[in-house]
Amino acid sequence: MKRLEQKNCLLIVTGSIAAYKTPELVRRIIEVGGSVRVVMTSSAEQFVTALTLQAVSGFEVRSDMFDVKAEAAMGHIELARWADAIVVSPATADYIAKLRIGHANDLGSAICLASEAPVLIAPAMNQKMWTDPSVGENLEVLKSRGMSVIGPGSGLQACGDIGLGRLVEAEVIVSAVSALFERGILAGLEVMVTAGPTREYIDPVRYITNHSSGKMGFALARAAREAGARVVLVSGPTTLDPLPGIKTINVVSSGEMRDAVSSNIKSADIFIATAAVADYRPEKSALSKVKRGTDVLNMRLVPNVDILAEVAALNDAPFTVGFAAETEKLELFAAEKLKRKKIDMIAANLVGEPGTGFDSDDNELTVFWDKGVKKLERQSKQQLARELVKLVAIRYDLFASSR
Ligand code: PMT
Repeated sequence: MKRLEQKNCLLIVTGSIAAYKTPELVRRIIEVGGSVRVVMTSSAEQFVTALTLQAVSGFEVRSDMFDVKAEAAMGHIELARWADAIVVSPATADYIAKLRIGHANDLGSAICLASEAPVLIAPAMNQKMWTDPSVGENLEVLKSRGMSVIGPGSGLQACGDIGLGRLVEAEVIVSAVSALFERGILAGLEVMVTAGPTREYIDPVRYITNHSSGKMGFALARAAREAGARVVLVSGPTTLDPLPGIKTINVVSSGEMRDAVSSNIKSADIFIATAAVADYRPEKSALSKVKRGTDVLNMRLVPNVDILAEVAALNDAPFTVGFAAETEKLELFAAEKLKRKKIDMIAANLVGEPGTGFDSDDNELTVFWDKGVKKLERQSKQQLARELVKLVAIRYDLFASSR
């Protein structure tokens, strides 16, 4: 069955330059089985034509609240009832404010008020507008009323600025719409995932880090979400787009990662440690830039707390999954880490070779647990994450039933 088979998606398009991407979004929803009807604001019509959206959706596009002919065919209340999900994409700062106060002076906002369908908002705006506290506040209120928010992404904007505010890709929106309907193998559970590298500061401008991009951890967070879990992602510095429907705590150093994990782990059923946490940090981090000299400079490093081992040692610990990044003797070292850290499962991958491991789009894993091993063949990190999540769900069930 396709992801959105027999699902009706009402797409509300508002007046952002990103509206030009709407035909692609309509096409992607239809590709995965959904039906799409489009409602546009009058400003959206400045950026994409109703004719184009009618052609790709196969339905007449609505924009006027008082169109007697259109209301006779399917009135705004019927549209509100028809929708299994409402997607506001792109959502301008103005439209977000309107939804927050319940202003219903255009067809889309009136439908939002009249519908019981879940609403997904995909913001798109200039990066400065995005950082204005009013936008964040409005979205927080909408989230507290049960609406979902996806994005925005970061990068070069149409206005020439660089920063957060770009509409996320159509595929990401489609995944978020699917997630509104899914009850998967991890439904009802909370999963915490760590991702990305950490930075251990030598002085204000230099740090020790590694090549982790966060792709594997983000893929796992997305796969756990798709499987129906509530997900908390604790992420070191990455350039990846934020994930919809996932509570994300951004950290920089291993100390911050440890604090974020320990303050939020209590409610987690499953802990997946994908982050490449620095094993050591400089004993002292200089307050100002260390000056160049002619002498040899010695730096004393002290070990960081092993976050994964610390979680596994908790009374009432969650099901713990570690990763082992190795350049040699993969199986030997992974099995040793499984034992030493007293964790329930470990996914081992080779790093240091092109094509897998750090910063690649693909990976392959050998997964070990007590008396068990399974090889997950090379594939995209997203697909691999889905396979690992299936394995975790099976082992978690045994773990939970033996408690
Ligand atoms: O981010 P990507 O570019 O997609 O790359 C993915 C990855 C290669 C980073 C990922 O697949 C991976 O292997 N992550 C673990 C990296 C690592 O730190 O491995 P390790 O063998 O050094 O650590 C073993 C385990 O202990 C890991 O689960 C790690 O998160 C955890 N650990 C390590 C040190 C520490 N102080 N605290 C920890 O929790």
